[in-house]
Amino acid sequence: MSGSGLLGIQQSFDLTAANTLRLPCKAERYAAPSTLGALQQVVRTAVDRQWAITLLGGGSNVLLPAELTGITIRPGMQQWWLERHGDAVIAYVSAGVNWHSLVMALAAQGLWGIENLALIPGDCGAAPVQNIGAYGVELNDVLLGVQVVELSSGNVSWLSTEACQFGYRDSVFKRALAGKVVITRLALRLSTQPAPKLGYGDLAARIAARGTAVPSPLAVAQAVCAIRQEKLPDPQVLANAGSFFKNPLVSSTKAADLLQHYPDMPHFPQPEGQTKLAAGWLIDQCGLKGAREGAFGVHARQALVLVHFGGGRRHELLQFASEIAQTVYDRFGVKLEPEPRLIQA
Ligand code: EPU
Repeated sequence: MSGSGLLGIQQSFDLTAANTLRLPCKAERYAAPSTLGALQQVVRTAVDRQWAITLLGGGSNVLLPAELTGITIRPGMQQWWLERHGDAVIAYVSAGVNWHSLVMALAAQGLWGIENLALIPGDCGAAPVQNIGAYGVELNDVLLGVQVVELSSGNVSWLSTEACQFGYRDSVFKRALAGKVVITRLALRLSTQPAPKLGYGDLAARIAARGTAVPSPLAVAQAVCAIRQEKLPDPQVLANAGSFFKNPLVSSTKAADLLQHYPDMPHFPQPEGQTKLAAGWLIDQCGLKGAREGAFGVHARQALVLVHFGGGRRHELLQFASEIAQTVYDRFGVKLEPEPRLIQA
């Protein structure tokens, strides 16, 4: 057996089922190491042999090419544990843990912090890359630090939350550290003290309808699941990657201009004279909800989600998405940017 065989490296691995958009993709090599040590060895082997490295998590926020050369690595470490300091609790979570399972397990233990982030698909290791967020909470609100392995050396270090340079669906892992590190563990700050965040949309009304004055974190997580299930397609049933576009930031002057014509337009003032608009609303207003072109379509209940009915290719999806963005631009003068990451071949 060759050295790379001992590391569990597979040749010509089909990633079609490993991305929630179900885009057909063949990886030249693939490994899913289940310990930190094994991951370091795979990285060092790849560096020695000069294989290009592609990192994959749950595959729920990527646009994969038809072929990936080099090696694709999916961290497979599944451990997590808690460290209690009175009311404050730190969860240490390995990269391969499924995010939603973690949310539900922590909420079931009465721990507050990530209950609003229920039912977001993907692995924990990918969560910091795009700074996942939903219902008024973003990962960076609760993250204490991120353990990484450097791809150049295989060495392990910790990054503070500040060093992660988080923004809206953005982090240093998409910028200066893109292709330089693999995230191997997260440290999350949780609490046993009730801290419900119910300000977003109809979350408060949902909770009130359940008749509990102070909800449990599990009740909040379950309410979030119910809202998401109503609006968002289940990738197991209909292939998709969640929101396909980021909500655009425009100048507050531009937003005021649009509001004169569209007084009902959802808008969220931000710091520094900017306003965030709802991409889903803009696409919806163009009459594109439920639109279909070949294998791809705009989801019928949430215009921000593009769905794949099967048999499509990435370039067709990108073409469809750019037509949607162009239609929105022509009508509103607002540019939309894709949210999932375009993985290079
Ligand atoms: N809207 C429409 N029509 C649509 C979709 C939305 O009019 O087809 C309107 C809604 O009525 C609402 C506003 O647009 O007034 C915002 O919609 P929603 O609350 O559904 O949230 P979103 O902005 O479309 C964002 C995130 C989601 C996250 C939800 C809830 C982004 C790109 N998307 O969507 O995240 O679950 O808020 O917090 O920021 C994801 O990133 O994959 C994702 C699903």
